[in-house]
Amino acid sequence: MTDYPQTSREIQLASRPEGWPADENFRLAEVPVPKLEDGQVLVRNLYMSVDPYMRGRMNDVKSYVPPFQIGAPLDGGAIGEVVESRSEGLQPGDKVLHALGWRDYAILDGKRARVIDTELAPATAYLGVLGMTGLTAYAGLTKVAEFKEGDVVFVSGAAGAVGSLVGQIAKAMGAKKVIGSAGSAEKVQRLLDLGFDEAFNYHDGPVKESLKKAAGADGIDVYFDNVGGEHLEAAISVLNKYGRIAMCGAISQYNDTDTPTGPRNLALAIGKELTLRGFIVGSYNQYADEFAELMSGWLRDGAVSYDETFAEGLENAPQAFIDLMKGANKGKMIVTLQS
Ligand SMILES: NC(=O)c1ccc[n+]([C@@H]2O[C@H](COP(=O)([O-])OP(=O)(O)OC[C@H]3O[C@@H](n4cnc5c(N)ncnc54)[C@H](OP(=O)(O)O)[C@@H]3O)[C@@H](O)[C@H]2O)c1
Repeated sequence: MTDYPQTSREIQLASRPEGWPADENFRLAEVPVPKLEDGQVLVRNLYMSVDPYMRGRMNDVKSYVPPFQIGAPLDGGAIGEVVESRSEGLQPGDKVLHALGWRDYAILDGKRARVIDTELAPATAYLGVLGMTGLTAYAGLTKVAEFKEGDVVFVSGAAGAVGSLVGQIAKAMGAKKVIGSAGSAEKVQRLLDLGFDEAFNYHDGPVKESLKKAAGADGIDVYFDNVGGEHLEAAISVLNKYGRIAMCGAISQYNDTDTPTGPRNLALAIGKELTLRGFIVGSYNQYADEFAELMSGWLRDGAVSYDETFAEGLENAPQAFIDLMKGANKGKMIVTLQS
């Protein structure tokens, strides 16, 4: 049994990054742990997620999630174990998913902690394949891009957490062909091993040329965009008539200090009657049960497998986040806090 801790370590935002985030933008602090109030739980965090969207929250801009505050701890998805509970329905020892990562101990309203079943799947799966990451892939592909059997699908960031699932879900649901792009030869090989039909390293040449070659005469029907910029422009060029784009992320631009130009060929969307639709996973929670059932089946029958990349220790979480933006991960990037 864990004793009630006097203090907890947390990662605070020390300053807002301009361009690429660096070590000095983060601070490791030790803070007192207050006593629990009615309805609250104390959770000892075991794993936390680092995600590209956190980069946007480091800027002082209004968005769909509020910005991180300088001098305050960061937050984000985490898995932990309840140490003490004043919340009905939560017991010490319960493993829970919640949103107060970036710290060793979290105090939160019990209603904001969801008990996970670690008999069904490893705890970390709830941060990735069975969590927000998986739902993003599923909802983006099937609801936003309106994927249908026989489509040719292209996904960028394909060796990452969301992208690797998009490609495998598309295959499991009857895509004619799945094409992925990623940033290294090793990742390209991994995509082929995961069942992608075609994969290319976007550093090897212009994305448009690589994509055209991979698509061949079929062209592409769906583009799942994790990257933006040159990838988006290339996809608009190669998409077939009535093609659909799910605009999930634009990671190639998150650390840009200039206003991005392009896609320069957007007018092609008119003649091709393309649909470009942005989305935020939080708007698709109504599909969480449908997704969980399908994904559990795909995991059971081996249609989907998932990669995880681990960094060790809260003190290394900022570096794990920076590494994620630079492509050090295969699949979901997770920080192990205490075991
Ligand atoms: N809309 C939503 O609700 C929602 C929800 C979750 C995630 N997202 C977005 O989905 C995307 C993927 O997120 P994730 O959590 O799965 O992260 P991830 O793909 O696991 O990790 C980020 C990856 O981006 C790639 N990358 C970095 N810079 C790049 C560049 N200039 N060009 C091309 N690729 C680059 C890196 O792989 P390489 O080695 O291949 O470069 C890196 O591994 C992100 O854009 C994220 O913001 C959106």
